[in-house]
Amino acid sequence: PKTLIEPFRIKSVEPIRMTTRAERVALLEAATLNPFKLRADDVLIDWLTDSGTGAMSSRQWGAIMEGDESYAGARSFYRLEKVLQNITGLPHLIPTHQGRAAEKVLFGAVCQAGQLVPNNCHFDTTRANLEVLGVEARDLVIPEGLQPMLPHPFKGNIDLARVEHLLQTEGARVPFGMITLTNNTGGGQPVSLENLRAYKALLKRFGKPLVMDVCRFAENAMFIKMREAGYEHTPIKTIVREMFDLADACTMSAKKDGMVNMGGFILLRSSEWLDGVRNGLILSEGFPTYGGLAGRDLEALAVGIEEGLDEDYLRYRLRTAEYLGERLAEAGIAFVRPTGGHAVYIDARSVLPDMPVAHYPGWALSNALYLEGGIRACEIGSVMFGKRLPDGQETFHTMELVRLAFPRRMYTQSHFDYAAEAIAECKQAARSIRGVRIVQQPPFLRHFTASFEWV
Ligand code: F0G
Repeated sequence: PKTLIEPFRIKSVEPIRMTTRAERVALLEAATLNPFKLRADDVLIDWLTDSGTGAMSSRQWGAIMEGDESYAGARSFYRLEKVLQNITGLPHLIPTHQGRAAEKVLFGAVCQAGQLVPNNCHFDTTRANLEVLGVEARDLVIPEGLQPMLPHPFKGNIDLARVEHLLQTEGARVPFGMITLTNNTGGGQPVSLENLRAYKALLKRFGKPLVMDVCRFAENAMFIKMREAGYEHTPIKTIVREMFDLADACTMSAKKDGMVNMGGFILLRSSEWLDGVRNGLILSEGFPTYGGLAGRDLEALAVGIEEGLDEDYLRYRLRTAEYLGERLAEAGIAFVRPTGGHAVYIDARSVLPDMPVAHYPGWALSNALYLEGGIRACEIGSVMFGKRLPDGQETFHTMELVRLAFPRRMYTQSHFDYAAEAIAECKQAARSIRGVRIVQQPPFLRHFTASFEWV
């Protein structure tokens, strides 16, 4: 048989509370037309994010009981350290409570105001943690990475010519180069080993270390196996090791490919930054052998990070996004191509071509997905990235996308079929989909808390 099945069976279940369309209308209105303000119990399929939302395995739940909660020198730390040394080859582990804490602690120890950090695309917390220190975050993804509908196997690659130019002209300002695997901001797109190697060599030539944001490193490695010439028969762990061999330091949100609900870490190759990082860690996260985590969290991560490298799991994982993409293509709905590792990004314009941008078509579509199917998605468009200027004028984003991000090991194929039908029904009923206007908004990150009314 050709069908790629979920490579697990279900041992513990959590009921979904069914709602009717009429109920959802009332619930969304009570949430001032902002899906972030819905209660999760009122959502049927929650695709707001893949971060920390997945299902743990029975082995992980078993490991939880083994957690050593000692303040200093806990056995659980040494277990995780050994697992990570084995996978990555980097000797120094600094646990943090999640990815942005790893960024804050590392950048706080290493960066200074006036510096500049190149990356394919900085995730928004990465950018914010640099900018708050007065460091410029510059996105240098290849041009293909900025063209949503253009297929390319490695749209997360960094533009080496522009990096070289930057190092020649402003190199003195660069403390290190960064790269994000996979490139979430650019649609969950992978970086090739060829690009990583060339980037590393370029940085080395200018004496700069390479810092990798490795939240979705396992998904990136599977894309390499499936797409990069010469790797089709290479074991995933070998590919992963080749990626990490190029890193001088890493920041990780374990809420993604760590397969846990909370956690993160920093990895360092040399001890040069170690004291500074540990001192910062003690100030805001905790003692160096637990960081921001309980001993049981370290145990669950030690098991989860190995499970996330299982090839059957990864093949299934990447296939789920691709499968939804195929269903959407059949319904004539456009999305960022190729589908990413953890998410599908719908182009709301292909559903609502006539809606004025001032009525926020991305937001309107994500509301419609909730009303039609109880699906919660995340607008990545003019609500998230537009601004109201002091004179009352609005600025708009270049794209109106809706991100469907998939928690790991949580939803089955029938959930995906159901969602594809609901999205296709939205397209058919497009003329009845209403736009919104913002009636109240905070000065920044407005999408989380803004209130809306129907246009
Ligand atoms: N880097 C990348 C590439 C991310 O996608 C995220 C989180 C972080 C860093 C920060 O990690 O949330 O553990 O502090 N992305 C989530 C998302 C929130 O929905 O894409 P964190």
